[in-house]
Amino acid sequence: MSLSLDETVPDPETLLQWYVELGADEAIGEEPVDWFAATPSTPVQSAASTAAAPVSDPKRSAAPAPEAAPRRAPAAVEPPSDNAASALASAAQTLGDLRAALETLEGFPLKVTATNLVFGEGVTQPDVMFIGEAPGADEDRQGRPFVGASGRLLDRMMQSIGLDRTENAYITNILPWRPPGNREPTPAEIATCLPFIRRHIALVRPRVLVPVGGTSAKTLLDQRQGIMRLRGRQFDYVGPDLDGSIPAIPLFHPAFLLRSSGQKALAWRDLLTIKQIIQ
Ligand code: URA
Repeated sequence: MSLSLDETVPDPETLLQWYVELGADEAIGEEPVDWFAATPSTPVQSAASTAAAPVSDPKRSAAPAPEAAPRRAPAAVEPPSDNAASALASAAQTLGDLRAALETLEGFPLKVTATNLVFGEGVTQPDVMFIGEAPGADEDRQGRPFVGASGRLLDRMMQSIGLDRTENAYITNILPWRPPGNREPTPAEIATCLPFIRRHIALVRPRVLVPVGGTSAKTLLDQRQGIMRLRGRQFDYVGPDLDGSIPAIPLFHPAFLLRSSGQKALAWRDLLTIKQIIQ
């Protein structure tokens, strides 16, 4: 949805949906809350409990009021070290193990803000494995990769060269949890997730790897240049637990193509290159 200044004020539901699309999906109060502060030592009794304790009852009036437990922020958990993430990822022998390893990973802040783990979907040993950046709002809600507007375009791009996530392709992301408000993943978040996506690739064993968008291409191919310079070229992806290398063809992100349809011709060329390799 888009709003322009000359539109009349939208109804509350439309406005709320607009906020969610912008990433403002958490309700906050007007006053800041200090979750570390202990509550006053005299607990506040509810009207109901006060009414239920008549003052004439000596046993009740003599009993000291129980101390209220201080309200605390959730215990801070140490973020996972890169070594711990590598050890967890490389121990996974199957995709099920890998999913379980991600589910048990502790201390990764995006796990707290995301609604669902977005692991990946498709067939193993596919012709092509597509790897995006990170789930967006729709993916986070459904726990599935590329199901929003850009996912629908990616599906159409795949179909144009005979690929389908239910038959001969696999789709996942560098990060399996949504960064709040769809912000860019930080280098530290990418570093933690890298051993998992590398293991994911080794377990899926695609014939061709397609990093979707700049973040994915730079991360997987260890490059510094942006997608404008990386697309149109073929790379060899080398990773742990792989016998050889996998041909990798970087592709524009469909979210970018939705905004810049003039670039679709270049994306089409890259799709044809992918088709040639798998044929
Ligand atoms: N963008 C991505 O990079 N991945 C998704 O799953 C959805 C949108």
